[in-house]
Amino acid sequence: MSDAKTNPAHGGDIQSASQRFGIVPEQWLDCSTGINPDAYPIPDIPEKYFYQLPTHPLEILISAAKKYYQVGHLLLAAGSQPLIEAIPAMRQPCRVAIPDVGYQEHIYHWQRCGHQVIQYSGFDTQTLNRLIIEGDVDCAVVINPNNPTGKVQSIASLKKWQKKLSVKGGWLIIDEAFIDTFNDAFQNEEANKSFAPYSELPGVVVLRSVGKFFGLAGIRIGFALAEKTFLEQLSARMVLWSVSGVSQYVAACALADRSWQQLARLRLLNHSQWMLSLLDSVFPQQKIYSTALFVSVKVDKTMAAAIAEALAKGGILIRQWPLPDGENTLLRFGLLSAKDDRDRLAILLRQAVNAEYDLLVSP
Ligand SMILES: Cc1ncc(COP(=O)(O)O)c(C=O)c1O
Repeated sequence: MSDAKTNPAHGGDIQSASQRFGIVPEQWLDCSTGINPDAYPIPDIPEKYFYQLPTHPLEILISAAKKYYQVGHLLLAAGSQPLIEAIPAMRQPCRVAIPDVGYQEHIYHWQRCGHQVIQYSGFDTQTLNRLIIEGDVDCAVVINPNNPTGKVQSIASLKKWQKKLSVKGGWLIIDEAFIDTFNDAFQNEEANKSFAPYSELPGVVVLRSVGKFFGLAGIRIGFALAEKTFLEQLSARMVLWSVSGVSQYVAACALADRSWQQLARLRLLNHSQWMLSLLDSVFPQQKIYSTALFVSVKVDKTMAAAIAEALAKGGILIRQWPLPDGENTLLRFGLLSAKDDRDRLAILLRQAVNAEYDLLVSP
């Protein structure tokens, strides 16, 4: 459980790992993020975007994004992170429910703005449901699907919570950074888990990221979807010219490219299946939580630390999430596409886990 007094740590920090383990950055295999390993290919970018100030969002981006998210209003930002930082400052101190296990930036920024954070389990629905229905919180943050537990809340639950919270002016913030693989609204409405189509209901804010599914974490593009007046207020808190025209152009191409998106969904499902079966075979007794962008396994904390360390010594970075029970850790594995990378992980992981089990049986 986090008290979020200090800046949360994040995956993808190859530079720090490189210094700690004395391995040059180029030799690392980065499994510490939930980013698509087969990123959207960078298109030819018209030169003007390098020279012009991005005073207004690009029309081609806004129209591609509205179509992709199926909404009438949205706000462009430099990733979903600046939105996560700005939203808590938009209201007087209140009681807000946030998952204990989940992207820690939410807890950190709500606490920094003086709000009372009430943590609920990142693995289930019941505690959050009770907090909202019994009126114990004014606002709630849902990470859907949760990173790293993979827990998905249903549209029906989200609708119920929105109704209850909005009666007293409360907000329901839904962080959908990892939802794109569930979101093929064009093809299959049944499969859609995104709350984007309901983002104009009172008090709802949906956050979307172009970093994960499209593998474009470096271009820093995200969106808030909400009622128009809320977006206007949020927009006033964004930094002028913070999203470059170059990034906007790349995102416009990615969001409009339906055939790439369809192929990416299939490829990610394949990558995720491969990781799931590797972890299933290496950790037959452990609980595994899988999404189309990462797979997490629950392991005793001492063993988890030893496995992460052994992998790091072999140049493979994974992410550890200590759990609130104080006993266990979730080891989160980002996906791999290349066969050589998969072989490298499979061999090293088996060695690391076998070494730990040998220690257990012959102390
Ligand atoms: C659940 C979740 N939300 C939001 C973010 C922020 O991502 P970005 O600012 O790249 O959109 C992250 C980053 O890892 C995340 O894990």
